[in-house]
Amino acid sequence: TAGTGFDALTHAVESFTSRWATPFTTALSREAVRLITQNIYTAYDTGRVRASREYMMLASLMAGIALANAGAGAVHALAHPVGVRYGIPHGVACGILLPYIVRFNLAVAHDAYADLAAASAMVPLTADKDEAARKFVVYLEKLRDKLGLPAKLSEAGLKEADITEIADEALLSRSLSANPRRVTRVDLLTILQENL
Ligand SMILES: [Fe+2]
Repeated sequence: TAGTGFDALTHAVESFTSRWATPFTTALSREAVRLITQNIYTAYDTGRVRASREYMMLASLMAGIALANAGAGAVHALAHPVGVRYGIPHGVACGILLPYIVRFNLAVAHDAYADLAAASAMVPLTADKDEAARKFVVYLEKLRDKLGLPAKLSEAGLKEADITEIADEALLSRSLSANPRRVTRVDLLTILQENL
């Protein structure tokens, strides 16, 4: 529940800030983020609450439609080579990486993250955008901890000796070109170093 929930949340967040997002996809992404943030913990903690699972399923579909039309971002570019190499469930890899990438993107996408924070009632609609964007990242980090996911990829198997190969594989990903902030090889290596 934690892994697939975080995968759906990552689809919603990455499609929202994708370079190829459209008004059609951002509406789906924003509502998916709102539904997931309101239901993911209950679905995880009390699996038998059917309404929470139903909203997670609906949000996953909406985020999936947005993802299929707008693309993803740097989380997915890194999650694939990392997941395949160490057998980390895809959603777990996404859940670990998402806060790192949102922090990396903050400089260029803070209005978008502020929008998601306000839509999900993490801050009042009148909140300062910088503060709202920062609260969104902190929310993702706390959610990762509450759902029992590791705070770093090294806790799931990442080895320092592999990071250059992983960065090179991530550079070939189509998802990387959708990321709102341009990502260089050095940026990928820095993000992977932070995960050791
Ligand atoms: Fe995914």
